[in-house]
Amino acid sequence: MHDMETPVTRLYPAPGSKQSLEGLYLDHRLHTRGSPGRPFIYVNFITSLDGRISIAAAGRKTRVVPGATANRRDWRLYQELAGQADLLITSGRFFRQSVAGEAQDNLPVGNEDEYADIRDWRIEQGLPPQPDIAIMSASLDIPLATLEPYKHRRIKVITGEKADQERIATLRDNNIEVICAGPDKQVDGRAMISALAELNYQSIYCIAGPAVFHTMLVTGAIDRLYLTIAHRLLGGDDYDTLTRGARLDPVRGMQLVQLYHDPHSPEGAGQMFCIFEPGQP
Ligand SMILES: NC(=O)c1ccc[n+]([C@@H]2O[C@H](COP(=O)([O-])OP(=O)(O)OC[C@H]3O[C@@H](n4cnc5c(N)ncnc54)[C@H](OP(=O)(O)O)[C@@H]3O)[C@@H](O)[C@H]2O)c1
Repeated sequence: MHDMETPVTRLYPAPGSKQSLEGLYLDHRLHTRGSPGRPFIYVNFITSLDGRISIAAAGRKTRVVPGATANRRDWRLYQELAGQADLLITSGRFFRQSVAGEAQDNLPVGNEDEYADIRDWRIEQGLPPQPDIAIMSASLDIPLATLEPYKHRRIKVITGEKADQERIATLRDNNIEVICAGPDKQVDGRAMISALAELNYQSIYCIAGPAVFHTMLVTGAIDRLYLTIAHRLLGGDDYDTLTRGARLDPVRGMQLVQLYHDPHSPEGAGQMFCIFEPGQP
């Protein structure tokens, strides 16, 4: 493993410079970018060069983030992004994967020693020790036991008005707040964001997968996309890419605002850390 202080090279904006990996994203201070009623919403993915964010794997029921792309240097930045959030958006899938032992990790910010500086930083910044958790789900198939480790955080389940009423009641009986956003079973992104804005969330980190990202893209409310491109080609024909859902019309143009090269991970390949903000279609 390479030391987290081993620098990356900033390629854009020019001029290029070496920067420490540790602290690279914490410096963005995303928690100061939103305002009451207008949360700053950001999302993060790691993809292979051929666009895979997850792949089918032998013996696994669900697709998983490929071991060939996941790496500790990217994971450090994933944790730094969580460090700046007052709310994480995840999905029912994450908790079902947890039951199956197939989730990638616990929800951030990690309790490991190596992330102690991020947890301390949050407190210094006046943020609560851990971000709250919003779980998007239409099925409400969320195993209650998997929520236990997170009961010290505020947990909300976000679903549509036509979701199963019995399941809503069970969640509420277990002291889980349920928000119905939108007239159908599926969550309507705009209704969800306005409900979260009313609750005064100001920095929202979306860590779910392609359907959740699509729901958010449709709203036009994504402020930043953090995209790590691991320089490996995986092939295969059973995988997820960044988005899944109806074609976006208009398409969403994203402008590059920062680009870093990390030659150290994955070993023998390297990766790029790209940061995009909405541009023109
Ligand atoms: N490489 C990466 O950076 C990265 C990042 C994230 C995820 N992944 C991987 O990608 C794979 C797919 O992720 P995923 O299944 O979490 O992604 P997803 O396609 O975003 O959907 C997950 C679940 O979210 C809920 N959901 C999505 N949109 C919804 C809406 N509009 N209304 C209500 N519920 C909605 C549904 O839950 P219910 O089924 O409960 O209704 C759905 O099954 C996983 O293997 C994951 O590990 C990779």
